Amino acid sequence: PVKERVEDLLGRMTLEEKVGQMNQFVGLEHIKANSAVMTEEELKNNTANAFYPGITDKEVAAWTEQGLIGSFLHVLTIEEANYLQSLAMKSRLQIPIIFGIDAIHGNANAPGNTVYPTNINLACSFDTLMAYRIARETAKEMRAMNMHWTFNPNVEVARDARWGRVGETFGEDPYLVTRMGVQSVKGYQGSLDSKEDVLACIKHFVGGSEPINGTNGSPADLSERTLREVFFPPFEAGVKAGAMSLMTAHNELNGVPCHSNEWLMADVLRGEWNFPGFVVSDWMDIEHTHDLHATAENLKEAFYQSIMSGMDMHMHGIHWNEMVVELVKEGRIPESRIDESVRRILDIKFRLGLFEQPYADVEETMKIRLCGEHRATALEAARNGIVLLKNEGVLPLDPSKYKKIMVTGINADDQNILGDWSAPEKEENVTTILEGLRMIAPDTQFDFVDQGWDPRNMDPKKVDEAAAHAKNADLNIVVAGEYMMRFRWNDRTDGEDTDRSDLDLVGLQEELIEKVAASGKPTVLVLVNGRPLSVRWAAENLPAIVEAWAPGMQGGQAVAEILYGKVNPSAKLAITIPHSVGQLQMIYNHKPSQYFHPYVAGKPSTPLYPFGYGLSYTTYKYEDLNLDRKEIEKDGSVGVSVKVTNTGSRDGVEIVQLYIRDKFSCVTRPVKELKDFARVPLKAGESRVVNFKITPDKLAFYDIKMKKVVEPGEFIVMVGASSDDKDLLKETFTVK
Ligand code: IFM
Repeated sequence: PVKERVEDLLGRMTLEEKVGQMNQFVGLEHIKANSAVMTEEELKNNTANAFYPGITDKEVAAWTEQGLIGSFLHVLTIEEANYLQSLAMKSRLQIPIIFGIDAIHGNANAPGNTVYPTNINLACSFDTLMAYRIARETAKEMRAMNMHWTFNPNVEVARDARWGRVGETFGEDPYLVTRMGVQSVKGYQGSLDSKEDVLACIKHFVGGSEPINGTNGSPADLSERTLREVFFPPFEAGVKAGAMSLMTAHNELNGVPCHSNEWLMADVLRGEWNFPGFVVSDWMDIEHTHDLHATAENLKEAFYQSIMSGMDMHMHGIHWNEMVVELVKEGRIPESRIDESVRRILDIKFRLGLFEQPYADVEETMKIRLCGEHRATALEAARNGIVLLKNEGVLPLDPSKYKKIMVTGINADDQNILGDWSAPEKEENVTTILEGLRMIAPDTQFDFVDQGWDPRNMDPKKVDEAAAHAKNADLNIVVAGEYMMRFRWNDRTDGEDTDRSDLDLVGLQEELIEKVAASGKPTVLVLVNGRPLSVRWAAENLPAIVEAWAPGMQGGQAVAEILYGKVNPSAKLAITIPHSVGQLQMIYNHKPSQYFHPYVAGKPSTPLYPFGYGLSYTTYKYEDLNLDRKEIEKDGSVGVSVKVTNTGSRDGVEIVQLYIRDKFSCVTRPVKELKDFARVPLKAGESRVVNFKITPDKLAFYDIKMKKVVEPGEFIVMVGASSDDKDLLKETFTVK
C-alpha cells in the first residue's frame, strides 16, 4: 500500500533529501538557453533577473544526482525528461522526478503534441464532456513524454478583460468555470494510478483574476463574501473532484500575499475543504513575499512564512534547499512540518507509478502524440467553441456567389491560432485559417494580402494594398485579433503579463477593417484572441463577425467550416464583450445597481455582446416554461421544463441556459446567476422538452453572518438562449 511505502521511504531520508523533494527546478535546456544571455558577472553574483537563476546546468544536474531536486518544470522533450530521470536514478534513494508542465490546452508547450482550443474557447462550447475528453487525451500525450503533472485547470473566474490571462480561463461565471474545471480535473487524473493519468493543478489560489488595475499579480482586495460566492466555488469543487495539487496566486489578498497566507492554505483549503494534496508556489513567488510584497524581511523569512502557512513545494530558485535546511536545524521549522509536505509529494509519485516506471518509451510516444483520434477531438472542440457574433445574411458563404475572396489580417495565415502556452509547430501539423478556407472551398479564388503576424508593426502600405484588392473581390475576410504565442514573449499583446489598458484592436487593425469595408464589398471579421475585444465599429458596420478565440491546430478548418456552413455554429459567450474598456467591470451577474444608466456622451452601458450569447444558422423558439411546484421547503427541489424548437431549416445544437434570482434576501444578490445548462441537439423542425432540477445548493448563499443558508421567499427562474433578459422566459416559485 502506498501509505506504507511513503512512511518507509520517509524514514530513510535525510533532512536535505526531504527539503529537496519540496524543490522544483527549471529544466537544463531552459537554463542553458537563458544562461547564454547572462554575463559572467551576473552568473557569478546571481544578480540576473528571475528567469536566470544564477546557476549552471551542471550544478543542477549534480543536485539531481544527489537527490536534492524533487521536481522539474519546463522540460520540453522526452529525451531531456528521461535524461534528468536517469540522474535521479543515480541518487541514493532513487526517488523519481515528477515533471510538471503548463499543458493548458493539450501539451502544446512541447512541439509535436495535439493542440486543442484554449480554455476560453472550450468554455464557450459549454461542453463539459469535451473538457473531460481533452484532459484525458492530454494526460495520455503527457505521459508518453514522461510528463506527470499539468499546471491546469486554471479555475479563476475572469472578471477583468484587461487582464492578459483571460484566455486561459473558462470565463466570468463561477458555475460554468466550476463545471468545466471539475471535468478537466477528472480527465487529467483518471484514477491517478495508471500510466495514462497525470496530476492536475487547480490554480491560481486566489483573486488574481479581478486585479485592481487589470495587471497580472496586482493586489486583490476582495471581501470574504465575494471570495466565497465567486472565487472559491471552482476551487472547492476542484478539491472535491479529487485535484491533488493547487498553485497559489502571484497576488496578495487583502494585504496578505497568497504565498504566505495561512487563512487560505491552512484554514480554508485544508481546514474547511480537507485538501489532501500538495500546494505548489508559482514562479519565485515565495521570494516575492520578500522582494515585492515586503512582508518578509529576507528570503529565509519568506521561506519560513510560506512553509508555516502551508506551502509544500517551491517553484524555481536556488536558495530553497540551503535556507530551509537551516530553518529546521535552527529549530524554527519542526521537521514534522517538512515531513507532512514530503509525504504528500511522495504519495503522488507512488500513486502515479513513477517508482515502477520512471522513464517513458520513445517508441511508444509516437503512437499516442498527435494521433488521429486526438486531432479529431481538437477539430470537434474547435467547431463547438467558435462563436458567431453577428450575421446579417452574408453567412454561410455561398461559393457560387463569392467566387473571389480577399483574405487579410495578422491571424489569417499564422500559427497564432494555437494560442498562448504553445510552441511553434511543424507546418503540416497546423491548418491555418487561410489553409482551412482553401481546403473547404477549393473552387474559390482566395487572394491573400499578408499583414505579417505582429499587430504592433503593421505596414500602412500593406493596409492600403488590402483595401485596393478588396475592391476587386466579391467578399473580404479580415482575420484580426491579438498575438498570443509565448515564444515571442515580449511581442505579445495577449497572455500572461500582457495586460492592457484598452480592449481595442492593436495597431492598424481597425484601420485595415475600415478601409477594406470601404470597398463596399461585404466584409467578414474573424477574431483570434484570448480576452474580449471591444470591436464596436465592426459590430455596427460589418455584416458578419465570428469570434474564434484560439481554436487550436485544427482551428483553421473549423473556422472555414463555420464560414461555409458545413458546421452550424452553436457556441455561446463564456464572457461578456463590452463596448469599451471604460465599462469594466462588465459582468452579467452583477449586483442590482444603477449599472445600466447610459454613460455620459451617449455611450451605452449594456454590453456589446452579453454572456451566454451566440448565433447559429438556424433559429430556436423557447416556450412552455414549467415548474413542477410553486412552493418548496428549504431542503426541497423544483423540477423545471422548457420546450425548445428548432424553427429553422438546419440541424443545430442549442445551449439552453437556466438562471436564478433571489427576489429579496438579507444581503444583496446578483441580478441573475447561471445555475444549469444543457447542450441540446435539435434537427430542423424538431422540438424537445429540456428538464432541469433546482436543488437547495443552487439557492443557497452566505447570509449577514456568513452562514450558508437557503432563505424563505420568492425566486425567479429564467430559462433561455442567453443572459440577456429579452432572451429569457421567466417563472417564479417560493421557498416556505
Ligand atoms: O503555471 C505557471 C503559472 O500559471 C504562471 N507562472 C509560471 C508557472 C509555470 O510555468
